[in-house]
This record gives sequence, C-alpha cells and structure tokens, in this order.
Amino acid sequence: MAGDRSPFVHRRWSCFPTPRLIFWTSIFAALILFLFFHSPPDLSDRRAVAAKWGGHSWERRVLVSARPRSHGEVDASRGRGHLSVLVTGAAGFVGSHVALALKRRGDGVVGIDNFNSYYDPSLKRSRRMLLDRAGVFVVEGDINDATLLNKLFDIVAFTHVMHLAAQAGVRYAMRNPGSYVHSNIAGLVSVFEACKAANPQPAIVWASSSSVYGLNSKIPFAEKDQTDKPASLYAATKKAGEGIAHTYNHIYGLSITGLRFFTVYGPWGRPDMAYFFFTKDILKGKPISIFEGPNQQSVARDFTYIDDIVKGCVASIDTAQRSTGSGGKKQGAAQLRVYNLGNTSPVPVSKLVSILEKLLKTKAKKRVLQMPRNGDVVYTHANISRASKELHYKPTTDLQAGLKKFVRWYLDYYSGNRKRLYW
Ligand SMILES: NC(=O)c1ccc[n+]([C@@H]2O[C@H](COP(=O)([O-])OP(=O)(O)OC[C@H]3O[C@@H](n4cnc5c(N)ncnc54)[C@H](O)[C@@H]3O)[C@@H](O)[C@H]2O)c1
Repeated sequence: MAGDRSPFVHRRWSCFPTPRLIFWTSIFAALILFLFFHSPPDLSDRRAVAAKWGGHSWERRVLVSARPRSHGEVDASRGRGHLSVLVTGAAGFVGSHVALALKRRGDGVVGIDNFNSYYDPSLKRSRRMLLDRAGVFVVEGDINDATLLNKLFDIVAFTHVMHLAAQAGVRYAMRNPGSYVHSNIAGLVSVFEACKAANPQPAIVWASSSSVYGLNSKIPFAEKDQTDKPASLYAATKKAGEGIAHTYNHIYGLSITGLRFFTVYGPWGRPDMAYFFFTKDILKGKPISIFEGPNQQSVARDFTYIDDIVKGCVASIDTAQRSTGSGGKKQGAAQLRVYNLGNTSPVPVSKLVSILEKLLKTKAKKRVLQMPRNGDVVYTHANISRASKELHYKPTTDLQAGLKKFVRWYLDYYSGNRKRLYW
C-alpha cells in the first residue's frame, strides 16, 4: 500500500529525476571530463612512443645489431665467445657509452630507450645517431612494454641485459614522483619479468646508485653498510630495486649484479647535473648557486669519470655467472652481487667550479646558499675495495683531466661543430 512506503524510499527511487539530481549528475560528469582531459603532464612520453616498433625490416635490424662480430670466435682476453647484450637506456649518458664500448670489442648490442623529455631529447637523438653509425640499433620503446620486451627476446637469445634505463635526478622527484615509480620500480620489474621468462635467461647487470647511502654519516660508504635512510624518492626507488633484485634472484635464479654509481660525469653527459649546467651558466654569464651544508660544511662529491664507469660495467658483465632458471623456474642458486663504482676521492663543489673557470677561461658569478632539503646529500665517498678485488676496477681519471675532456666536447657540441664529434 502506498501508505506503507517511507517518503525517503520514495524520493530516492522515483524514476523521474528531480532538478537537484540532474544538477548533481551534471556536476559529477563535468568533473570526470575535467580530470580526464587535465591529467598532470607525464614527461615519460609514454603515448608518444607507442607502436614505433615491429615489422619485418625492424626485426631484421634487431637481429643484425644483436649479432656478435664473428659467431664462434673466442675473445682471447675473456676466453669465451662474444656476447649479445640488450642495453636499456641506451640513448642515455651511461647507456650510450656502455653500448658503444661493447660494440667496439665485438659484442652484439641492441638498445632500447623511450627518449623521454626529462632533459633535451635532441641530445639523446644525437647519441643514438652515433650509435647507429657504430652499428648499434636503438629501439624506441618503453621498458614497461612487456610485448616489446618479449618480442626482443623472441628474436634474440640475449646472453646479458645491461639495464640502465631509469628516471634519474633527485630533485625532479618532488615535481614528478610518478615518473620514478614508472621507470625505476614498474620498469625494473618489467625487465626482470622478461628476463625470467626468456630461454635461456640472460645475466643482468643494472644501475643502482650511491644515493642509497642516503643520510649515512660513516664514510667511505661500503656495500655492507646499512642503506635504510634514503634522502630522496629517487634513492628510495633504487633501494627498492635492490630488494626486487634479491627477490628475482631468490625465486627465479636470475644472476643479478647491482652497481652503485657515484656522480658520473664526462662527454655526452646529463644536462641536469651540476658540472653540466654550471658550464652552461658560466659561459652565459649567469650566476650559479653553490650549496653548503649545515655549519658551512662544504658539499663534496666522489665524481667518477664515464670511462672508468664503463670499465666497471663491462667487467661486471664479463664476471657475471649464468642465470640458473629455465621455463620461468629456478634450477639452482644464482649469483647476486652489489658493487660501488666510484672514484674514492671526493671533491668539494667549489673546487669543481674553480676547475671549470680555468678551463672555460671565464670567472663564475657565484652565490653561496644553504642546501635546501630537496633530496641532495652533503657528501659522497665510495669504498671500492670490493670492486677492485672482484672486478679489478681501478679508476684512472681525476676530475681535472675528466672535466677537460667534458669541456672540449661541450664546446664542440654546442658550437654546432658536430662534424668533429667523437666519443
Ligand atoms: N649519471 C650518474 O651520475 C648516475 C649516478 C647513479 C646512478 N645512475 C643510474 O645510472 C643509470 C644511467 O643514468 P644516466 O646518467 O645515463 O641517465 P640518463 O637519463 O642519461 O639515461 C637513462 C635513459 O633511460 C631512458 N629511460 C628512462 N625511463 C625509461 C623507460 N621507462 N623506458 C625506456 N627508456 C627509459 C631515458 O630516456 C634515458 O635516455 C640510471 O639507472 C641512473 O639512475 C646514474
């Protein structure tokens, strides 16, 4: 009976919408449309790189690029055949140098990079052009694209993966935290998943970071030290990566080596790093900010020259044991390693600036500021005993010599003198 119905139920379930219901429904729909079209900018260019791969000639390029110089030939220095290496982040600073070094000694190399716009993508494209000339094909794609990774492993039985693709930089994490989760966590898992499923499974060498030492005060930093006080989201994603690496090694028998790089610099470097943008600003006559820590403590970094880092990466590949899994299942214990790759001689940032001033023959306009709490740490210093014992890693370039090479490259590159470009 009509009299039994509660007036509340009647109002809610009436099939004739009231003006108020229509009003709120329209507001809700407008909100959904607004959020859909105004999602925050995503600098990983995920949409832009979709579907840039595939087809017969693309597969052929992958195959040719992955082929070692001479099948069956044994490299006397290593006592084994040449390798086929997938280098992620190959259009990046470290990735391009490592890819080229491997290719030069006869290994087959295929690169992958999404050419995101975290820094000027034209620099990444120039690096790719040089790699292309050297016979290294860099596939344009995202490491989160599982179909692409599986396709690459279908075409090539990679012996090794040199995983260098990541969202780098500590300060940018405050502006775009999602890009760190996308590349350094989801992307890392995606690479491990593809390696786990591959038959044979490749051995993996990947870039962690010295930033995992975070707010530690015991120096020099050694691999056995605790790393549970990251000072930035970047550092936290690298620390998480080391945990994820342990899991994939433990469950699936992947052979994994993590490398903690210390402030890598050199020709073809990253424009977001201090030595690079100081050079640019000094030449333009723009003031540069030099940070100092609490109690006027000077900020210092264990600057490591790119060629030394490349040697450490290549030595890690050469000493990596095979993964033990097959069919996605572990068949026995596999190697799991972590190494510091640094220079063991921290240099204050003020000294870096004075070297640049001499090389550029220009006085810098300096402002000394308190270091903001945005992810940076005051001091880094690597203990490299483990790498020197097990990888025979021995850095040989000091900051003065390395910056000289960087400045020469910088002046050539940005003067448009690209004909003279060399690695
Ligand atoms: N340069 C250093 O001082 C330093 C120090 C410590 C650790 N690292 C680590 O070393 C590695 C290489 O660093 P770098 O200095 O060459 O940086 P980089 O930014 O020059 O190179 C990284 C490359 O990865 C690519 N990339 C990022 N996300 C990707 C994705 N989702 N899919 C495909 N490609 C992607 C980028 O486009 C870039 O070309 C990184 O893992 C970085 O975290 C570098």
